[in-house]
Amino acid sequence: MITKLSKKDLISLEDMTKDEIELILNVAEMIRSKQKMKEMFLPLMGKSLAMIFKKASTRTRVSFEIGMFQLGGGAIFLSANDLQLGRGETIADTARVMSRYVDGIMIRTFDHTEVVELARHSTVPVINGLTDFSHPCQIIADMLTIKDKKKTLKGLTVTYVGDGNNVCNSWMFGAPKMEMNLRIATPEGYEPDKAVVEKAKALAEKNKTELTITNDPVAAVKNADVVYTDVWASMGQEAEAEARKNKFQKYQLNAALVKNARPDHLIMHCLPAHRGEEITDEIIDGPNSVAFDEAENRLHAQKGILALLMGR
Ligand code: CP
Ligand code: NVA
Repeated sequence: MITKLSKKDLISLEDMTKDEIELILNVAEMIRSKQKMKEMFLPLMGKSLAMIFKKASTRTRVSFEIGMFQLGGGAIFLSANDLQLGRGETIADTARVMSRYVDGIMIRTFDHTEVVELARHSTVPVINGLTDFSHPCQIIADMLTIKDKKKTLKGLTVTYVGDGNNVCNSWMFGAPKMEMNLRIATPEGYEPDKAVVEKAKALAEKNKTELTITNDPVAAVKNADVVYTDVWASMGQEAEAEARKNKFQKYQLNAALVKNARPDHLIMHCLPAHRGEEITDEIIDGPNSVAFDEAENRLHAQKGILALLMGR
C-alpha cells in the first residue's frame, strides 16, 4: 500500500495511478471519520493555501477554504481580476511570488495550460480547481460518494448524460483507472475531447472495462449503477446556453430516462444544477439522488488531497 502521492501537484487524473486515487479516498475517509467523531486533526497547522479564481464557485471555494481551516491552516481567496495577473503579470511570475508566501495554490481558470504553467514555476503544490478541460477534485469526491453508497468502485457502470465537458473528461481518465465501466451519451457535436477519448479507450482496454460513447441516452442509461449529469452550458459558454437547450432536451435526467437504470442506481450531479434543464426537480430531489452527499464529499475528499500534498 502506498502512503504518499508521487507528484507535487494535482492537475489531472491522467497523471495519477489507481493506488494514488485509492490513497486519497482512504485518507479522506479517515479525516472524515475523525471530524464526525469531533476529533481534532491538524496536519496543516500554520500552513496556508492561496485560491485563485477566474471563474465563479460555491462548492470549490467554500470546501477548500473550510477544509484548510479544519486541518489547522488557512486559505485566502484571490479573484484573478484583483491580482496583478489580471493586469498582465505572467503566470510564471505569479507562481514564483506565491511560492514565497504560501504552502499551496489552488486555481480555477479557463485555459488548462495555465494550471500546468503555474505548477511548473511553483515550488509549492498546485491543485486544479477546474479548467475548461478538467475537474479532477470533483471526480475524486464523486468516487468517494459512490464508494460510500456501493462499498466498491470496481465493476460499476457510470453513465454520464449531457455535454462532453470538463467533468466528463475527468470521468474518462478516472473511471477506467478505477476499473469502472463508463458510458457517455451526448448530443451529436457535443461529444468529449477526441484525444481524451483515445486515452480513455486505451485505459479501458488495459483494465478490461467498458467505454461507450454514444448519442443514445436510453441505451447508455440501461442498467447503469450511476447516472450522472452536469449543466448543458459550462462557465464560459453562456452565449450558447439558449441554442443548446433544444439540442440537449433528449438528454435531460427525468423519470422516463432514469427508469432504464438499475433500481438501486445513484443519481449524481456535480452542481450547480439548472433544474428543469439537465435534470428535473423530481430526479435531483428523488430517493436515488446523492447530489448533496456528493457536494459534502468535496470537503472530505479535498481535505485528503490537501493533507497528502501539503502535509509533507
Ligand atoms: N461542483 C463545483 O465545482 O461547484 P462550484 O462551481 O460551486 O465550485
Ligand atoms: N461543467 C461545469 C462544472 C461546474 C462545476 C462548468 O465548467 O461550468
